[in-house]
Amino acid sequence: MTTTARAHTNIALIKYWGKRNANLILPYTSSVSLTLDDFYTDTTVAFDSDLTADTFVLDGNPQPAPKVSAFLDLVRAQAKLNQFARVTSVNHVPTAAGLASSASAYAALALAASRDAGLSLSSLELSRLARRGSGSASRSIFGGLAIWHRGEDDLTSFAEALPETRLPLRMVVVMVDAGPKPVSSRQLMANTVATSPYFSAWVENNEQAAGEMVNALATADFTRVGELTEQSSARMHAAIFASAPAFTYFQPATLQVWHAVQTMRAQGIPAYATMDAGPNVKILTLAPAVEAVKAALPEFQDRLLVAGPGPATKVLEEAR
Ligand code: PMV
Repeated sequence: MTTTARAHTNIALIKYWGKRNANLILPYTSSVSLTLDDFYTDTTVAFDSDLTADTFVLDGNPQPAPKVSAFLDLVRAQAKLNQFARVTSVNHVPTAAGLASSASAYAALALAASRDAGLSLSSLELSRLARRGSGSASRSIFGGLAIWHRGEDDLTSFAEALPETRLPLRMVVVMVDAGPKPVSSRQLMANTVATSPYFSAWVENNEQAAGEMVNALATADFTRVGELTEQSSARMHAAIFASAPAFTYFQPATLQVWHAVQTMRAQGIPAYATMDAGPNVKILTLAPAVEAVKAALPEFQDRLLVAGPGPATKVLEEAR
């Protein structure tokens, strides 16, 4: 069998930062995200009794496969299968955008591998499986808005779709720096948990914010959605900054974009900033305001991408 699946990346409105259990990838708080339309990963998996090891090719380049193999081990255990697999992935996430491709990568791998191994998992089960590859991947199983419930254990920590909102949400991605990440999110996350005195305050606040966000989305209150989005990101980055050693993803141009967003709001443009594990800024806005947001960033004209809500993870092709 050969199975190909497509998964779209997502951007968290309420962030996930910090693992209670690093092996199972259980988070300290729930998180809420928007799956994006234009950025996705296509992954093909073929379990084959003739193979003597797993192989992994990403964008045409053979890669070392320890993380992919460890993930396939979870699938093999569930399916009671002892074959190796050929995994081929193509990222349609512009590498220069600095968008996390791990979310779309592990969501696509979870669906393609589980199907190819003969499993027929529900969305909830797929979300739990994808979570083991990368926490944010648990949310990419779903289209549009999703909430990842922090849960208590492996069984209860999964994402699910939130009702569609009436808000025409858009993300304007500002590419501040296309270079590789200075510090991996995995390592920095662990260090924030271990050393930041602000981490516990972030956890307490962010769990509450996740609940508030669900209400704000349900009542289509964009101002509240935007405020909660910006605060979750700002507080995550504040906790990171307070780690030992102190660290920040902010670059001068990052701060320039944050200031531009504040100016936009002062001018009545609905715009709120959010950032992940890198210096690029994503501006949450509404469809009718996209052109005004772009026009307010003259220095970044050739470094803007606009995305809207995207679909759930799906199987593209199955062949015998
Ligand atoms: O899923 P990971 O391990 O790549 O972590 C993602 C962390 C953030 O992107 C910073 C926040 C989030 O919730 O996506």
